[in-house]
Amino acid sequence: MSAHLDVQNLQFDRTLIERLAGNGPRYTSYPTADRFHAGFTEQDYRQVASSCFVPGVNRPLSLYVHIPFCNTICYYCGCNKIITKDTGKAEVYLQYLEKELALQRPLFAGARVEQLHFGGGTPTFLSDEQLRWLVERLRAAFPFAPDDEGEFSIEIDPRKVQPQTIQLLRELGFNRMSLGVQDFDPEVQQAVNRIQSEAETLSVLKAARECGFHSISIDLIYGLPKQTVAGFTATLDKVIAARPDRLSIYNYAHLPHLFKPQRRINEADLPSASEKLDLLSLCIDKLQAAGYCYIGMDHFALPDDELAIAQRAGTLHRNFQGYSTHDDIDLLALGVSGIGKIGHSYSQNVRTTEEYYASLDEGRLPQFRGFALQQDDVIRRDLIQQLMCEFALDFSQIRAQWQIEFQHYFADILPKLAHYQQEGLLQMGEDSLRILPRGRLLVRNIAMLFDHYLGQGQVLQRYSKTI
Ligand SMILES: C[S@@+](CC[C@H](N)C(=O)[O-])C[C@H]1O[C@@H](n2cnc3c(N)ncnc32)[C@H](O)[C@@H]1O
Ligand code: SF4
Repeated sequence: MSAHLDVQNLQFDRTLIERLAGNGPRYTSYPTADRFHAGFTEQDYRQVASSCFVPGVNRPLSLYVHIPFCNTICYYCGCNKIITKDTGKAEVYLQYLEKELALQRPLFAGARVEQLHFGGGTPTFLSDEQLRWLVERLRAAFPFAPDDEGEFSIEIDPRKVQPQTIQLLRELGFNRMSLGVQDFDPEVQQAVNRIQSEAETLSVLKAARECGFHSISIDLIYGLPKQTVAGFTATLDKVIAARPDRLSIYNYAHLPHLFKPQRRINEADLPSASEKLDLLSLCIDKLQAAGYCYIGMDHFALPDDELAIAQRAGTLHRNFQGYSTHDDIDLLALGVSGIGKIGHSYSQNVRTTEEYYASLDEGRLPQFRGFALQQDDVIRRDLIQQLMCEFALDFSQIRAQWQIEFQHYFADILPKLAHYQQEGLLQMGEDSLRILPRGRLLVRNIAMLFDHYLGQGQVLQRYSKTI
């Protein structure tokens, strides 16, 4: 792609954001998961997998494993999780993961795992023995890329994780991690029921550095109850001093009608829309001053982190786990609620352990819905991905790749793009579209123009705020 990104790449334009930000999808997939349907069956899935993975032909694979358990509930949490202190539940779950792996494995002839991601919930809910057992099962099932080629990542809740667990994870082959922090402010921690000392967090980070993790990321959230600019300034200062390679700063998605525990948050304690923008603006100023690059959506990285390098080279990708340097490869998702992507299809597993176990007991893959993409979906997915990763489209490249004329194929959205151009979000050239630094925080709004399904029965309220 030729229309590359300049690096001083983000401008916070408050009035523009106030006027335009609304609700919208995060586009970890296109079409978004709410378009998936039960008409995409296990048989369809088997057919797609066997046409992509052919014996004797090597093909890269990304593996996602969902571990849904957590010890305690964080009130803000929007993830698919089960709160329990009973480690026996994990034991049963692992046995079923093994059953799912046994059903899936024959469909993936020639696969080599180049990406692995353990997400949740909290993967470190598993004991050291359970973690070892699980990784050994996966490694016995598939060949893995070597450490300097593969991205092998895990989400860590630093509370109660011992340095020897970090050491073990490195031995098992993990080379990237993300640490959930959210905010160090004690008042905020109290309000969201997540008490986590700085010492615990920093000791995990130190252990990860010492045993050679390639990239360490920290998750923060802005918009939590009791958050103030003064409190979040202190949090950001502490986080920046620890110098993680990457930072994810999520916009708190408050959707209490979907996530019950969020009803325990006192809405009067939530920052106002204007205070939220103050917090976001603070993050951007501080991170840019500290030398971090804006990667896109909620992500920042140091200039020498491979995400920033890939962005400059135009080789950044986006998938269910966020941004990645690897090609958009097939994704096999194991465990409850996991979403896989094979060839031109998506499929999602059932969300509860009861349904998951019942399916596997009957020898059926535990999927409940999916989607087979048509050519138009594939084109739109590609363009949305380019916008999210490179903030630009190159019409000649689109012509070469898809045999379509941008101006003609997307004639219906040209007036809307022209409107965004007038607003200063983007620049349309003869042969390119470039999102300008002041439009980048609103990239979801621009991507939404390319979403064929929006407005066809979806209620935008079900999505989180774009800013
Ligand atoms: C599965 S959790 C992280 C792993 C681990 N369970 C932990 O809490 O440390 C992934 C991340 O999603 C983010 N997150 C969870 N709920 C959210 C919400 N409602 N809005 C925005 N971000 C959220 C948090 O930053 C969290 O660290
Ligand atoms: S934020 Fe992490 S630890 Fe907290 S409930 Fe969600 S998944 Fe569990």
